[in-house]
Amino acid sequence: MAASMDETRAPPVVRANFPSRYPSGIPRPEGVLPRGVRGVLSLEDLEPAARRRLPRFLFGFISGGVETNEAREGNRAAFARRRLLPRVLVDTSARSQATTLFGHGYASSFGVAPMGGVALAAFEGDLQLARAAAAANIPYVLSGASLVPLEAVIAANPNAWFQAYIPGDRVHIGALVERVGRAGYGTLVVTADVPVPANRENNVRNGWSLPLRPSPTLAYESLIHPGWLFGTWLATLKKNGMPHFENMAASRGAPVLSANAERSFGSRDALSWVDMAWIRKRWAGKLVLKGLLAPEDARRAQETGFDGIIVSNHGGRQLDFSVASLDALAGVKEEAGEMTVMLDGGVRRGTDVIKALALGADFVFLGRPFIYAAALGGEMGARHAIALLSEEIDRDLALIGCGGLGDLDARFLTGI
Ligand code: FNR
Repeated sequence: MAASMDETRAPPVVRANFPSRYPSGIPRPEGVLPRGVRGVLSLEDLEPAARRRLPRFLFGFISGGVETNEAREGNRAAFARRRLLPRVLVDTSARSQATTLFGHGYASSFGVAPMGGVALAAFEGDLQLARAAAAANIPYVLSGASLVPLEAVIAANPNAWFQAYIPGDRVHIGALVERVGRAGYGTLVVTADVPVPANRENNVRNGWSLPLRPSPTLAYESLIHPGWLFGTWLATLKKNGMPHFENMAASRGAPVLSANAERSFGSRDALSWVDMAWIRKRWAGKLVLKGLLAPEDARRAQETGFDGIIVSNHGGRQLDFSVASLDALAGVKEEAGEMTVMLDGGVRRGTDVIKALALGADFVFLGRPFIYAAALGGEMGARHAIALLSEEIDRDLALIGCGGLGDLDARFLTGI
């Protein structure tokens, strides 16, 4: 009986390697991986490797949260609390991660969050991440606190988004928005959760400030991390000279290393919804608000004309004990109307992406893992990280019995 059943069955398909085994996965980069990421099997492997590569002041700046780190830990804990409820015997052989966001078709539902100072951790880091995201066809958001001119980044990735730290007065806001539009950016992300600088005690302890002030600690930490010193810092100085904050305003800002320069923060604590409405009138492209957690703010964002929002506590780097992004998601979603709802904070695994989408997010972003990947292996390192996450999502979709990211909903979660 068993033999005759076997005869009627289609011959098994032997799928030998990555692209065919993961039909909807983003392919791994071809060729030999940079040494720094060769042993990296998941995004969680990146942090310990980056800790070894980077000077303490820099690793601390990237990995750290604020004050007690509870907000940062809370993001991970919120994912850990959720459990998945798989369905079996569902034909998922044609499963897909493909998705559309603001009219653009992307290869998956995750992207690279805006991060300042990437080019300090990785040689031309902003460009490396922009190129990796373009190669994988996922969104990339250039930070306003970045060190490569925004015009050069969009030349490397024509679909890049720009995240602005909105300066405190209308003249400067207008000039920045004008510059971003002129460069060809189609999506502007306004970060709203930094009215004042955060209280990051670990930075003070490690001798980190922006701009960096030369000190014996900085010199010592640099010398005991020669891979970073030669491969990133001295290589940058040699090729491009001293990096500056290029994109905080319409004109070039302070250098990143200086004994006396001050980075102008402006009066951002005076910004309000009125300013957002003013920007909305002047920005013809897609407008996204990043860093909100309250349902009421989602409603106001919609009334103000935003196209999308990123539910975020800034990776636990601004207000300590702020609610985890994942825990805030459902309430925000209820008030978001037609807006696209995105989320960041603590996403590390394919299962995290699935949980966020099942809870109502349209899209997620990741920060720290991608800066670590770029620090360890440049563009190829970032592409490796992107492919790993995409493979996990693909495998997880099959394991939970879901044919596509668009089909995820609360049925795939238990009520914990
Ligand atoms: C950030 N983040 C951030 N956000 C923003 O809007 N503008 C910025 O310039 C920066 N800079 C920045 C630097 C570094 C080193 C990190 C780690 C983060 C926050 C970022 O966009 C995102 O909200 C969080 O990183 C998401 O959390 P995870 O994925 O790092 O847990």
